[in-house]
Amino acid sequence: MENSKNFVIDFDSTFTQVEALDVLAEISLQNSSKRDEIIQEIKDVTDLGMEGKISFRESLKRRIEVLEAHKDDLPELIDRLSSRVSASFKRNKEFITKNKENIFILSNGFKDFIVPIVAHYGIKPDHVYANDFTYDDEGKIVGFNEENLLSSNNGKPKQIESLKLEGEVFVIGDGYNDYEIKAAGLAKEFYAFTENIRRESVIEKADHVAPSFDEILYKNKMEDRALSYPKNRIKVLLLENVHEDGVRRMTTEGYDVEVYPAGLSEDELAEKIKDVSILGIRSKTQVTKKVLDNAKRLHAIGAFCIGTNQIDLPECQKKGIAVFNAPFSNTRSVVELAIAEIILLMRNLPDKIASMHSGKWDKSANSSFEVRGKKLGIIGYGNIGAQLSILAEAMGLDVYYYDLEERLPLGNTTKCESLDELLQLADIITLHVDGRPENKNMISSAEFDKMKEGVVFLNLSRGHVVDVAALKENLLSGKLRGSAVDVFPEEPMSNKHEFVSELRGTPNTMLTPHIGGSTLEAQENIAQFVPTKIMEYINTGSTANSVNFPNLVLPKLVDAHRFIHIHMNEPGIMAKINNVLADHQINIVGQYLKTNEMIGYVITDINKDYNKEVMADLKAISGTIRFRVLY
Ligand SMILES: NC(=O)c1ccc[n+]([C@@H]2O[C@H](COP(=O)([O-])OP(=O)(O)OC[C@H]3O[C@@H](n4cnc5c(N)ncnc54)[C@H](O)[C@@H]3O)[C@@H](O)[C@H]2O)c1
Repeated sequence: MENSKNFVIDFDSTFTQVEALDVLAEISLQNSSKRDEIIQEIKDVTDLGMEGKISFRESLKRRIEVLEAHKDDLPELIDRLSSRVSASFKRNKEFITKNKENIFILSNGFKDFIVPIVAHYGIKPDHVYANDFTYDDEGKIVGFNEENLLSSNNGKPKQIESLKLEGEVFVIGDGYNDYEIKAAGLAKEFYAFTENIRRESVIEKADHVAPSFDEILYKNKMEDRALSYPKNRIKVLLLENVHEDGVRRMTTEGYDVEVYPAGLSEDELAEKIKDVSILGIRSKTQVTKKVLDNAKRLHAIGAFCIGTNQIDLPECQKKGIAVFNAPFSNTRSVVELAIAEIILLMRNLPDKIASMHSGKWDKSANSSFEVRGKKLGIIGYGNIGAQLSILAEAMGLDVYYYDLEERLPLGNTTKCESLDELLQLADIITLHVDGRPENKNMISSAEFDKMKEGVVFLNLSRGHVVDVAALKENLLSGKLRGSAVDVFPEEPMSNKHEFVSELRGTPNTMLTPHIGGSTLEAQENIAQFVPTKIMEYINTGSTANSVNFPNLVLPKLVDAHRFIHIHMNEPGIMAKINNVLADHQINIVGQYLKTNEMIGYVITDINKDYNKEVMADLKAISGTIRFRVLY
């Protein structure tokens, strides 16, 4: 660090997440019947002092009086506080140790516990300015050294003044007394530190609000900082009532998160997107070219759902925006519904239930069968088909499947060599293919003709894969014992629109409103999966499971910087990248490359010591869409 920048850091609620005397009270009063009351009193008095509403000395005196603490309580206090050092200071331990000559702890707390805690970060005892406890003969804490400047009102400015630090002073703290140093003209800037607590009266006075130590280091262009870019500068916009778990994950990561319960129109979103780095949507928000043209800072879109038709994916690629969704989060939900429907249909229950509602009591075993020992034919042995086979086998079904691709049979399932083979042998047929255009009407009259008499038929995949007229005909003729249909070629736009289908009123048929995957558990899974993928992408560059980017799973970045270069997939770009790296004599630790038809994605891990001009040259390569560096 240049000698000119000194960082003066407050301890309570800044270096650590908590107020040390609150924690000491929890320890010293653990056997007291008035514990909760006294702890609350201490917290209230601390706040009054922090907000400048009572004098500091008064607040300190009142707290020590009620504390009833002892020297023997200190080891436990030090232990507890060490585990509660603020995340961004923990993260920047290397920076602190390296720059210890210019780092000072200035606290109205007590050296007795501060010195051992900050020593782990390389901060020397003579760089810790704080109070000292006084003890009685039995070791009980009875007061504080009143000679110490920091025990007096306005103690922090007095202490800084006495130090006569060379160079600029930057004060970092959460309290009014930290601001007083700047107010006295003894610091260049005061950063209100809000990682643990936000005090509006303090924020008002600050030169800059710092939600993390990373922000301060970034703003001061300090090298050796832990993060290339502070997370609080990453603005996240979450629309359409994204599940609260998803919001929590993004907030905990340190992002600046804005949540909107509804969707936004194209124009509204085009306006709002301008400073957004990560957008989270569900199925209703249309992310069009117009929106994307305004999205100058957008790095990633999370579709908190399965489909991504609502997003202009090619345009996202051209602009270097990675899109993630949650394709497997509701697999189990679809499987469970299929299992339930198979059982209901084999017992002829849809009709029986309807009869009961119209007053008809039909107690008989006719047309009711167990599923045990029946042949289940699964068409499409992907995520859903394969998981269904496991559950179905566990219920005693004899499982067969057919897939276009070579898929490994799970358990005792039997692979069919052709669709016809499956159609001819199965008692129950269930469709779990994807929605590729060639699958349109893949089950039509000819396929129904090949099926056994009295077969049960389910479609929980995509509406257009079944010829609905043929299905209806086979239900009415009795060739099919019954059917369950969850997806339709035309589905209502919303719950306000009528469901129109020729399948309404067909015998022994369960019609459900495309809810195979709609469970609260699936929503929770989505809320976990999508943010995880986005954070991996932001933090490491990994594009695993991205819908539109070449998928690269990357090793952890250890002791290196990572260059991420996204470019149009044009001949010769890779050579240009490597030429630039060679010209700057960059020491490459690892390089990873993947392309798709439109873009190329190149990751280069390099030794930390390099000429920073290389970055401008990499950005200048023609065809470059985006470049960023990670560490
Ligand atoms: N009802 C719902 O709410 C709901 C929820 C989730 C998924 N889905 C749908 O379920 C279907 C399956 O989902 P998944 O996650 O298992 O998909 P997947 O991509 O993992 O599996 C689809 C499988 O079908 C195979 N396939 C495609 N066309 C085929 C054909 N003509 N003949 C034989 N096999 C074929 C593929 O090779 C693949 O193995 C998808 O259509 C999906 O949209 C519906």
